[in-house]
Amino acid sequence: MKKCVLVSGGAGFIGSHVTVELIEAGYDVIVADNMSNCDMTCFEGVKKITGREDIPFVKMDFCDAVATELLFTTHEIDAVIHFAGFKAVGESVNEPLKYYKNNLESFINVIESAKSHGCRNILFSSSATVYGEPDKLPVTEESPRKPATSPYGNTKQMCEDILRDSVRAYSAIRGIALRYFNPIGAHPSALIGELPRGVPNNLVPFITQTAIGKRECLYVFGDDYPTPDGSCQRDFIDVVDLAKAHVFAVSRMLDDKMKKEYEIFNIGTGKPFSVMELVNDFQKANSLKLNYRMAPRRPGDVTAIWADPTLANEELGWKAERDIMDTLTAAWAWEKHLASKE
Ligand code: WQD
Repeated sequence: MKKCVLVSGGAGFIGSHVTVELIEAGYDVIVADNMSNCDMTCFEGVKKITGREDIPFVKMDFCDAVATELLFTTHEIDAVIHFAGFKAVGESVNEPLKYYKNNLESFINVIESAKSHGCRNILFSSSATVYGEPDKLPVTEESPRKPATSPYGNTKQMCEDILRDSVRAYSAIRGIALRYFNPIGAHPSALIGELPRGVPNNLVPFITQTAIGKRECLYVFGDDYPTPDGSCQRDFIDVVDLAKAHVFAVSRMLDDKMKKEYEIFNIGTGKPFSVMELVNDFQKANSLKLNYRMAPRRPGDVTAIWADPTLANEELGWKAERDIMDTLTAAWAWEKHLASKE
């Protein structure tokens, strides 16, 4: 009997890539999304990639406890992967209540409904942002979390704690938190990818939109950091590699392979790249010249962070495999695909 996974926020950038990998791994998937931060482009792309026109899609808001309850009443759900939530760092500083209400209430509703409907397995989409500015690099899962520098980052820490404390209190559930580093790229088919609304906050969509001419110039926020080339360093993880990590984590839960009732894994490559290295690699991979300029530092940015992914490699059996040049080529192909549809 096929196991069924609910992907909340599954029409979004990472959720759509995870849906593809789950289906290709033989799971049944239900996608539920309130479409507040995406349109149907990626979900349509998922159907084309998988060849499955029958993927159940439910337009709903997980802040609505009744709708969440109904979802679990009408479907036999074996595991939930929770992506649904707002994720713009800057916006969260200006609208903290919107972020606390949406990101916490939606997750609490999911846990409550899962618990009362015998769905034991909850996978939470967390973030390396919980580590703040690390004292020691690379960061392991034991590295201390630092006080969040944004309400968005705080909701990630709070949701981790909500899951941890729920697992401790209720034997009916167990959980895994995956701490993503910097997800970038797009599916090699160029049918799904990152689709930021308005001006992109993140580096790679800003690069591709500059390259396609949607943005005048890429500004590199800071060239005076204490790093080899003066720009910030990050652990850029290909979104397809990241998506596959979710399949390994869900299988760990469904095949009863967890060693503790609540587990955390860093999902990163373990290889730091600087912003400037990424800019240069993007130009090289796609044989183009990018219009960019150095600019002052962006408040809130950490100098450098990258993962020690050993635990995920050993316990999940997952490892990042895609080459950064392929990732940057796929990101560009996706941007060109979007332009071809305009
Ligand atoms: C990366 C580097 C910027 C844009 C955040 C969240 C994290 C995750 C990913 C959300 C930084 C520089 C960026 C630009 C630039 N969550 N940059 N010019 O801030 O590391 O992580 O996004 O989905 O939880 O914290 O990612 O891509 O915004 O920035 O120079 O136009 O690129 O200064 O050094 P970040 P980012």
